[in-house]
Amino acid sequence: MERKILFNQNEIQEICKRLGQEITEKFKNDPVPPVLIGVLKGALPFMMDLIKYINIDFAMDFVQCSSFNGGLVASETLVLNKDVTYNIQNRNVVVVEDIVDSGRTLQMLVDHLYEKNPLNVYTCVLLDKHCERKVPMEADFVGAEVGKGFIVGYGFDYQEYLRNKQEIYIIDDEEYNRINDLVERGNQND
Ligand code: IMP
Ligand code: MG
Repeated sequence: MERKILFNQNEIQEICKRLGQEITEKFKNDPVPPVLIGVLKGALPFMMDLIKYINIDFAMDFVQCSSFNGGLVASETLVLNKDVTYNIQNRNVVVVEDIVDSGRTLQMLVDHLYEKNPLNVYTCVLLDKHCERKVPMEADFVGAEVGKGFIVGYGFDYQEYLRNKQEIYIIDDEEYNRINDLVERGNQND
């Protein structure tokens, strides 16, 4: 694998700006403000940048779901480590997620949120790996489409590392090995 930068800092800001404007336009005439729900931990940097470009009032909450096992394979059940605590009944909800890959995580999360009787659940994703889709899930607000390949940086992790990198890129073999070593060292404390 070769390191390949997909989006630099400027490109990421441009994407966040456009999405912020789209969300502003969509809800600006609604009498009741929407609720933005960020999906921890991957969407955290994205959420922080996105909200700078939303020029309407909104409430905010977070969920954490681990359907990815921290590795390279997506599992099929939604494990909700943290649910919403804010009451979303009769509210428009916008789920803010880092990436939609197979679509399972987002679909299961949307289904889960609908059980709380919101008005509507919309989805906003920074990246869309459309070629990997396994369930018919289309996000309402999409930052950019990407192809196959494991993405890291700007919230995207490999084994919980690399979320702090400012660019979004495909991990290379050297970094892959370096992180595996860090994981190994961390495990020695178990
Ligand atoms: P899905 O259920 O297959 O759509 O998986 C979505 C979740 O898998 C996202 O919330 C991400 O956390 C994670 N994920 C998918 N692709 C990548 C990737 O390329 N890098 C890092 N995380 C990813
Ligand atoms: Mg995620």
